[in-house]
Amino acid sequence: MKYYITTPIYYVNDRPHAGHAYTTVAADVLARWQKQKGRDIFFETGVDEHGAKIAEAAKKAGLEPRDFCDEKARDFQNAWKLLNIDYSAFIRTTDKNHEKSVQKTLEILNNKGFIYKSEYEGLYCVGCEQYKSLDDLVDGKCLDHQKEPEKMKEESYFFKLSAFGDILKQKIYSGEFKIEPEARRNEVLSFLESGLKDISISRKNVAWGVPLPFDKEHTVYVWVDAFLNYLTVLGWNPDDQSDNFKKFWPPDLQIMAKDILRVHATIWPGILLALDLPLPQRFFAHGFFTINGQKMSKSLGNVIWPEELVQKFGADASRYLLLSSTPFGQDGDISWEKMMEKYNADLANGLGNLLSRVLNLIEKNFDGRIKAEKSDLEISGFMENLQLFEALQVIKEKINWANKYIDETKIWELVKNDKPKAEKILAELLGAILKIGESLKPFMPETGRKIVETASVEKIKKGEILFPRIEN
Ligand code: MSP
Repeated sequence: MKYYITTPIYYVNDRPHAGHAYTTVAADVLARWQKQKGRDIFFETGVDEHGAKIAEAAKKAGLEPRDFCDEKARDFQNAWKLLNIDYSAFIRTTDKNHEKSVQKTLEILNNKGFIYKSEYEGLYCVGCEQYKSLDDLVDGKCLDHQKEPEKMKEESYFFKLSAFGDILKQKIYSGEFKIEPEARRNEVLSFLESGLKDISISRKNVAWGVPLPFDKEHTVYVWVDAFLNYLTVLGWNPDDQSDNFKKFWPPDLQIMAKDILRVHATIWPGILLALDLPLPQRFFAHGFFTINGQKMSKSLGNVIWPEELVQKFGADASRYLLLSSTPFGQDGDISWEKMMEKYNADLANGLGNLLSRVLNLIEKNFDGRIKAEKSDLEISGFMENLQLFEALQVIKEKINWANKYIDETKIWELVKNDKPKAEKILAELLGAILKIGESLKPFMPETGRKIVETASVEKIKKGEILFPRIEN
């Protein structure tokens, strides 16, 4: 069985921050989980490099767009390496194959009669790279970017998105195209109820983009360019479906945050329907992070960078801290203080203590030889439902149970005056540790592997301290 999972491709106007890391780590955990279950995985991530937003950022940095993108794409790749992200492919929309396929796709959409020329007049938010209706604005400003959108009037090509509203609604209602969580699905449906409009899919005054094949004065609208990555990353183009496409299409799960759900749930499936391609199976839109209650932003100086996270906590603990901060799907708040507290409580004291106490007792009193008893710890249900927070919660409860068991049975006394009983309890604890290690593998790959390795050898040794306490 195959499993195709995607993250959004992130804009390269800046390097990645903890918000991007959250989505990417979540996708990595789910990909690893499915792989552990024996599925054949394709895990896509990458960067979105064209459009006015990137061109402006490059100009500000005093670089050619291409050099600027090279630099930023590398920053994303480095960050994902630090966080131990095991993607199958990292796509850049400036990849030649991608650009060629985008052009061919537009040619086809045009030949099929889904594209027409007209004039666009309205508002455009460069931060979102999206057209805005008055309903989208508060006090005349885009909520996400706190900026007034630009008035725009230009010749433009349009895509007949309005043709697909009803069929999309029907596919969402029938569950053929799943959108989660429920509340987000309902938002999409009520947006569709108000009727889909045709959308402008070309820009005349944005040079940094893929030229429209049938009118070189225009470039392809950056969202259309970006959506197609989910196909081209598989080696797909309209003339040659590619082996990876045949094997992995359609996506089993597309993860993003709520900010970009609406475009994903309208324009993207619209394009697929126009191309006669099957729709993704499932979308999941998670919430947005704030830092200490404030929007993460460079101007506020409160951005948390993945490099800093990994430097302070290590890759595995960073992954754990991100995913255990908030139920997947809800908005959340993170801060250095909260993360430090959680690190010390859950990892240094909780998991770290459990390992060192149990392994130490086994090494000292039983010459390292104890046969583990079977233990149960079930996270599958949560993992299938994408309840990553809850899955981690269950693992944490098991750790707490084990630490409490040690305290209550005063096992350090039992090893002296009731060895058979101590042996029995340590066998149970060792079994629990093995199960905890196994369950942690998708979340904390190195930690999970080390725990299972250390706890399953014939002659157990105390081993290294995995999570030293961090003082402020
Ligand atoms: N380039 C488009 C996506 C095109 S996909 C075909 C884009 N890029 S982005 O860089 O703005 O990334 C948005 C995504 O980054 C969000 O949907 C989410 O996955 C992640 N996040 C960015 N900031 C975040 C938070 N503060 N909190 C949680 N996730 C965040 O949109």
